[in-house]
Formats: sequence, structure tokens, C-alpha cells
Amino acid sequence: MIQIAPSLLAADFLNLGDAVRMVNDYADLYHLDVMDGVFVPNISYGFPVIQAISAKATKPMDVHLMITDPIKYAARFARIPRVEMVSFHLNAAEDPAAVLAEIKAEGCKAGLVINPDIAVERLYPYLPLCDFVLIMGVFAGFGGQKFIEETVDRVAQLKRKADELGLENLEIEVDGGVSPSNSSALIKAGATILVAGTAVFKAESPAEVISAMKSL
Ligand code: DX5
Ligand code: ZN
Repeated sequence: MIQIAPSLLAADFLNLGDAVRMVNDYADLYHLDVMDGVFVPNISYGFPVIQAISAKATKPMDVHLMITDPIKYAARFARIPRVEMVSFHLNAAEDPAAVLAEIKAEGCKAGLVINPDIAVERLYPYLPLCDFVLIMGVFAGFGGQKFIEETVDRVAQLKRKADELGLENLEIEVDGGVSPSNSSALIKAGATILVAGTAVFKAESPAEVISAMKSL
């Protein structure tokens, strides 16, 4: 099953209620980008905004942490009602295995994220500990960037390794620059969760874009 996770970073923050209704009606997951201004050169939103969305969400929430020292906050995000997935960047954590364990202890799915300049091989030791992996299609920090085409091969490489290790339940999520122009290549390569901010929220018909991205 392919799931589409609109990134609320591209929503109209003065009309967040409209964005929430759209995701509830047409999408599968909420993708929520938390940036601390240290791990990435940008600051987005945090607990109060995610809690407000949680109160109205009828779909599960996927929190993508772009913060240093994720061990400090991962469990707190995981405890927010309806948050079912929490991910953090491999190179942001001193002990990635410990952060994955904290997230799982809160009953959430735990995921590792890599930017385009981090070799897929660096994930291998942690794959058996992950429920999902997020492969960035752009450098984390900003919405609206151009998709890096090599991402498709990186997804395929990860999928091959997961199959080799017998990890048939490992989900592969792709985030950044995803749109109907690359979604089918990503799905064929093995992605099962597609995040899209600009492509969905800046579209005339977000519902149509969501359904287009699910088709091969
Ligand atoms: C980027 C974020 C993405 C971003 C995606 O750092 O992790 O989730 O919002 O936005 P688009 O789809 O516009 O690239
Ligand atoms: Zn994201």
C-alpha cells in the first residue's frame, strides 16, 4: 500500500484548519517537520502547533525531527496523541539505536533519515532496529526545492538491502521534491510512503495530486 503524507510546512499557516481538513479527507498521514535552526539552517514549528493539529487530526501523524540531540525530545513528540511515526537524522544522534528504542518504547514506529550526501550503507547496521527509513530527495531544511534524481537509485539500493536482510516490513519513505513527475519511479524503486509539501498544497486540486501520486 502506498501512503501519501502531505508536509504541513507548505500549508497556509493562517488557515491551518483548511489544511487539516484536506489531509483528513484525502491523504493518509500528516508529515510534520520540526527544525531547530541548529541541525538545519531554518526553524519551523514545535509542540504547540503539532498538538493543535493532533486535536483535529483523524489520520496518523509522522514527525520528522531535524534537530540535534534527538534523544532529548523524541519521546515527548512520540507521546503526542495520534503521532504514530517519529524519525530523526542518523548524523544528528550520538547513539541512534538508543533514540530508536526510546521512540518504540512510546509505542511509535521509529525511523532514521539520511540527507542526499550520506551513503545508504551507513544505515545498514541499524536497519533491523528501524520500522522505516526516510530518504531525503533534497537537503533537509526547506520546502520547495528541486528533487535530486539520484534519490531513486538510493531507494532501490536500500530496498535491495532490506530484502537481502529479510526485512519485508521495513517501510521506505521519501521526502523533498516529490511530485507526480517522480512518484511512480520512487514507488517502483521500493518507496511506500511519499511526502509532498509544495506539490500538494500549492496545487489547484490537492486531492487530484494525492491520487495521481499513488498511481504507477
Ligand atoms: C524539508 C522537509 C520536507 C519538506 C518537503 O526539509 O523535510 O518535508 O517540507 O517539501 P517539498 O515537498 O515542497 O519539497
Ligand atoms: Zn520532512
